[in-house]
Amino acid sequence: MQIAKTLDVLRTQVEKLRPGGESIALVPTMGALHEGHLTLLRRARETCDHVIASIFVNPTQFGPNEDLDAYPRQLVEDAAMLQREGCALLWAPGVEVMYPDGFVTNISVSGVSEGLCGASRPGHFDGVATVVCKLFNQVRPSHAFFGEKDFQQLAVIRAMARDLDLTMPHVHSIIGVPTVREADGLAMSSRNRYLSQEHRAAAATLPREMQEAIARIEDGQDTAPTLAALEDALLGAGFSQVDYAVLADAGSLAPLERLAGSPARLLVAARIGGTRLIDNMAVEQNR
Ligand code: PAJ
Repeated sequence: MQIAKTLDVLRTQVEKLRPGGESIALVPTMGALHEGHLTLLRRARETCDHVIASIFVNPTQFGPNEDLDAYPRQLVEDAAMLQREGCALLWAPGVEVMYPDGFVTNISVSGVSEGLCGASRPGHFDGVATVVCKLFNQVRPSHAFFGEKDFQQLAVIRAMARDLDLTMPHVHSIIGVPTVREADGLAMSSRNRYLSQEHRAAAATLPREMQEAIARIEDGQDTAPTLAALEDALLGAGFSQVDYAVLADAGSLAPLERLAGSPARLLVAARIGGTRLIDNMAVEQNR
């Protein structure tokens, strides 16, 4: 596996991978890789001729009081994992390569980026959209893979790619991959390693209570009291704050007061021991 750290090396290596129009998958990450990331990589390998992963801890998607400095960085271990998975090329630019002096452009997606994490993390999705647009232009993949774990992020990227015509010249398809979970149901995340043993055990309440709430909503119980009970259960289990617990339309992410016939999603963000966890699950229509 080659590792590119400058745009010149990246371009040369990418062109070597597609002399005859081979399909190229891009799997963007911030590193600290776990089975969730590796599942994206395996899907990418099954789908495309070559896989390119990127590792870049993108400063513009972190708020001033967030965990940019603490975010785990382990390029050597990550590169070894990627190599084992058959990744052809690792794109690992430094901040000065992505955001050279004088960088002044920002991509801001309205609508889907505004509620949920967009409300509790102002500017976050501008940072995500801008860096992912750059990655698409730099690599020009035929396919790009993202996790449903970050459901709103996936919606923001799809909207950006559609609106800026990124899906025509290069990224033919953006593929969403279902969330990979630990044995107790907690969604895998690079941030789970911040959790103490006690908080890690309590964190499994999140997916469990979400499933409980979904069963009630699917059973026809009222949404508002069900979501209030979900919040209470999380606070009772040791979570310090619930940023949101929302039933939303799975396409527009607009909040729903009740199931309305179109695909719906339950999305939650909650904090435990200073770590912010997010999760989301599909909600089926009333049975
Ligand atoms: P990161 O959090 O490293 O995640 C990289 C990709 O892995 C994202 O598409 C994310 O949704 C996916 N992923 C993470 N945990 C997952 C899980 N448990 N199951 C399935 N997929 C999972 O998301 C980012 O980085 C950044 O915002 C990025 C898109 C790279 C832009 O900087």
